[in-house]
Amino acid sequence: MRAVLCEAFGKADGLVLKDIAKPMAGPGQLLIRVRAAALNFFDTLIIEDRYQYTPDLPFSPSGEISGEIEAVGEGVDPARIGERVLCYLRWGGARDYVVVREDEAIGMPDGLSFEHAAGLMITYGTTIYALRSRARLQRGESLAVMGASGGVGLAAVEIGKLMGARVIACASSDEKLELCRQHGADDLVNYSSQNLKMDLKRLTSGKGVDVVYDPVGGDFSEAALRATGWYGRFLVVGFASGTIPKMPLNLVMLKSVDLLGVFWGEAIVRDPVEHARNMSLILGWVASGQLKPHLHQTYPLEKTAEAISAIANREVRGKVVITL
Ligand SMILES: NC(=O)c1ccc[n+]([C@@H]2O[C@H](COP(=O)([O-])OP(=O)(O)OC[C@H]3O[C@@H](n4cnc5c(N)ncnc54)[C@H](OP(=O)(O)O)[C@@H]3O)[C@@H](O)[C@H]2O)c1
Repeated sequence: MRAVLCEAFGKADGLVLKDIAKPMAGPGQLLIRVRAAALNFFDTLIIEDRYQYTPDLPFSPSGEISGEIEAVGEGVDPARIGERVLCYLRWGGARDYVVVREDEAIGMPDGLSFEHAAGLMITYGTTIYALRSRARLQRGESLAVMGASGGVGLAAVEIGKLMGARVIACASSDEKLELCRQHGADDLVNYSSQNLKMDLKRLTSGKGVDVVYDPVGGDFSEAALRATGWYGRFLVVGFASGTIPKMPLNLVMLKSVDLLGVFWGEAIVRDPVEHARNMSLILGWVASGQLKPHLHQTYPLEKTAEAISAIANREVRGKVVITL
């Protein structure tokens, strides 16, 4: 079978496409024929050994896939063969076949394409965990989303709207903001050309925003924290800018703000019940057509390096997906 491999840590152009042995499903496992493998910002880091997990070499990038169950191991009901599923893997998805534990595969809603299903777990799972489980976002509250046209950012725009919030999308260009508007954002702030703090205050009539969702970090984080209101919540999701901000804690104290860490990959292990509840909400919204993940572009397996470079170059909007 074909696999894109990272054989030595480095930039995306060092990835190689190789033929390797097809795996077999062991006891309690499923063999999945991968149909689509989604990429995320962390794929740009994990291949350079700059992420919080360090896989053994060689490994394949892509932490989430969709596909069909082709075979099952001992102890698994053979009736599952042929089922369409999606899975979170951490890494290892950019290849023709993967083997997972039976409980790791979630059934895909009817009518959903493999390309759209592949990117649902990490991006939408992280975001609903952040907004629902951590910030407890309430109907009618204001939500400011940084990097709002990116993978998790656009998910926050969409899920924020579905939870009844007034969503203020913040991004670096008018083109990116237009996509956010099409996905339901009520207000738009271009933080490259506007004053983020002043505009967030203006858009909330001086009250300040209730919840900030920040997957970008860097200079804009402090401006967004300064624009939170009384009892605001600030979600620390990631640092796509490459800079981990150092925040003045007096800002947190003065408005009784909650600074909330979001580590989805660990949270789903520690609280699988809450994770299942969150994913069932996401899949329900997808099945009813209320949630439609935006695909930036699909790439064939052999162009995986090109796809990862597009993410690193800040070019993508929504999800980037490898099709197999
Ligand atoms: N905590 C968790 O559990 C969790 C889960 C998933 C993802 N994350 C993190 O969330 C962040 C975003 O992930 P993603 O997959 O949504 O990424 P993405 O699709 O590439 O989006 C990232 C956004 O960040 C902004 N950005 C600012 N400076 C950038 C730079 N130098 N390079 C690239 N983007 C830059 C861009 O928006 P503008 O151009 O509009 O600024 C871009 O749209 C990452 O740090 C990722 O590790 C965390």
